[in-house]
Amino acid sequence: MASYKYIETSEPRPGVGQITLSRPKALNALCTPLIDELNTALRTFDASPTISAILLTGSERAFAAGADIKEMAPLTFSEAYTTSFIESWSLLTTQIKKPIIAAVSGHALGGGCELALMCDILYCTEKANFGQPEIKLGTIPGAGGSQRLTRAIGKARAMELVLTGKTFSGKEAFDWGVAARTFASWDELIEGSLATAETIAGYSKVAVMAAKEVVNKSQDLGIRDGVEFERRVFHSIFGSQDQKIGMEAFAEKKKAEWTHS
Ligand code: CAA
Repeated sequence: MASYKYIETSEPRPGVGQITLSRPKALNALCTPLIDELNTALRTFDASPTISAILLTGSERAFAAGADIKEMAPLTFSEAYTTSFIESWSLLTTQIKKPIIAAVSGHALGGGCELALMCDILYCTEKANFGQPEIKLGTIPGAGGSQRLTRAIGKARAMELVLTGKTFSGKEAFDWGVAARTFASWDELIEGSLATAETIAGYSKVAVMAAKEVVNKSQDLGIRDGVEFERRVFHSIFGSQDQKIGMEAFAEKKKAEWTHS
């Protein structure tokens, strides 16, 4: 396993790669070197033949308290613009094909909230603390929060949160459709997240990656184009061995032995 300064990686269950943000003194503030390490770890798991699902988490106290304010404070417009500051955060949504589950406990603020929103499934503790407090710093969300949060919870609530910097709880995240499940404790969150990751990793990798792709397309395409795109990908799955294996196993009342091809 590679050695990192700001994250830890492990393979806690068969087919599951875990990335743990680990910059405790700064509540996992997302400095550029941390994001670089995160991207390296994501690419490594995405390319690994033994990994089918990825779990991204932080600590019980903080998933991530945002972009690193101390790193950003002196940045000029021309530096931010010419280096495309924050753009590298998008790798998670643009290039990683395997599903990523965010397990959020404690603070998920600013860029931390945005990072969680980029993941494919979001689980959290009931007391998790989400928010886009950038307005309090004289700035605005910069890693997709104004777009993804608004799509997830609607304009009325998102506008209020972004303009006031007020936070919302894990329970509210679940009630509003941001989180797929909430858990009473950190231990239950990690156990539940690993169980889901292991379930996903037990299916055909081809089908899992296609399923992630078509659901995510719904966020970019209108309904007509989205349904057409889904049908094309559905057709292409008939070219996989695992579609034959899965359907024949059902008919023969056997367990499918996936080839992931
Ligand atoms: N950047 C850099 N350092 C941070 C940080 C951040 N986002 N969040 C916390 N830290 C540091 C603190 O400076 C402190 O360091 P020192 O011990 O060296 O002083 C350490 O982490 C612990 O933090 P606190 O003492 O503040 O802990 P707390 O429990 O009292 O408060 C908190 C926790 C409410 C999360 C508070 O730290 C806080 O408000 N953090 C900032 C949250 C925020 O504004 N995030 C948005 C950032 S902007 C952004 O993300 C832009 C974007 O869209 C990409």
